[in-house]
Amino acid sequence: MKQDMIVILDLGSEENPRLAREIRAIGVYSEIYPHDITARELAALPGVKGIILNGGVNRVVDGVEIDVADEVRAFGVPVIEVDHKGTAPWPADEAARKAAISDFVFGKCGAVANWNMENFIADQVDLIRKQVGDKKVLLALSGGVDSSVVAALLIRAIGKQLTCVHVNHGLLRKGEPEEVVSVFRDQMDANLVYVDAVDRFLDKLAGVEEPENKRKIIGAEFIRVFEEEARKLEGIEFLAQGTIYPDIIESGTKTVKAVKSHHNVGGLPEDLQFDLVEPLKMLFKDEVRACGKALGLPDSMVYRQPFPGPGLGVRCLGAITRDRLEAVRESDAILREEFANAGLAGKVWQYFTVVPDFKSVGVRDGMRTYDWPVILRAVNTVDAMTATIEEVPFSVLSKITARITAEVKGVNRVLYDLTPKPSGTIEWE
Ligand code: XMP
Repeated sequence: MKQDMIVILDLGSEENPRLAREIRAIGVYSEIYPHDITARELAALPGVKGIILNGGVNRVVDGVEIDVADEVRAFGVPVIEVDHKGTAPWPADEAARKAAISDFVFGKCGAVANWNMENFIADQVDLIRKQVGDKKVLLALSGGVDSSVVAALLIRAIGKQLTCVHVNHGLLRKGEPEEVVSVFRDQMDANLVYVDAVDRFLDKLAGVEEPENKRKIIGAEFIRVFEEEARKLEGIEFLAQGTIYPDIIESGTKTVKAVKSHHNVGGLPEDLQFDLVEPLKMLFKDEVRACGKALGLPDSMVYRQPFPGPGLGVRCLGAITRDRLEAVRESDAILREEFANAGLAGKVWQYFTVVPDFKSVGVRDGMRTYDWPVILRAVNTVDAMTATIEEVPFSVLSKITARITAEVKGVNRVLYDLTPKPSGTIEWE
């Protein structure tokens, strides 16, 4: 391995992810492990230069307190015990805290600041080759940041042993399916199966109004299509997934309560159970983006804003119709273009359009119209649990309104959603 590592043993401190990030920020790789990792597992970890016991020193197994520090000290690398009684040993002041962490990592542990994307990619390429051998790997490539970066990494490691399946369910944004094909098939020469499942999804969704039903149908149909494609391919033994570190942390460790459950291939049938390849599972989101950049993916993919799994399906309110879906797609493309022109694209967390299933009266060229409105939404958030509204300049809103009403078929009004979360959610369905 090319990297040194500082291990954080999770003894119940909620600051572990922050600490791991702070250590990575000074250039040293760090991973969090559960408090009951065995001595053998710990000894097998590569490049460990120091261990931080964070959140208290003792764990209780079957009612008996065990001094973790005693066990861990036997490894012969420096150990620091943190947060015995809820007080961190490092100062609260940012600069002083950084200095104290640096002192432990570099001074006591003698770690080298060799955590960078080049080394990460080199290590992962070796690990993937070791894990996969000459076998074949399958990946559902949605075009989102995580699956795109996994694809690029696997192409670097095993080339044509990887097959990517891109399912176009008709609910992607304008230009996205085309971009997936052009980046992965044309530029990276990947084995890419492009599945045009647009009619299939829209037929299944026809007449379905209730948002949860729509979500369930989209999710179930996606698994069915992917499964059919997987069955057509021979000799696949591995399934690659874009699991990232927050997915694992949010699933809850032994000591921290789960925020949400982590989904993996649970939806695929028994006889399609593959071994998993998850090369990004130790990366935070910004590190995944840096990895994608280093692998040569375009900015439009690497800095893509969050996009819900059910895609535009939950932005075409009520029962989806093809004409309103196109109105969502076209208006979203205009919004994105104008946000980019106004320098808002990298600044606003998420922005999109919604088309409701009612019409209003308007006028065009002296003639009465009876058409849909388009609703604009632009929000900022840290964790998507709450969100505030971006104060988009009026001139930008006016330009977007003029373009949408002129260019998008069937639309005669534009509205701006001023509702923070709560009381609204970010999406409308
Ligand atoms: P809400 O609407 O719940 O959304 O405030 C919070 C964030 O999650 C995104 N979102 C999803 N992401 N699958 C996803 O991967 C989904 O089914 C889904 N639904 C909502 C939403 O776009 C926002 O960023």
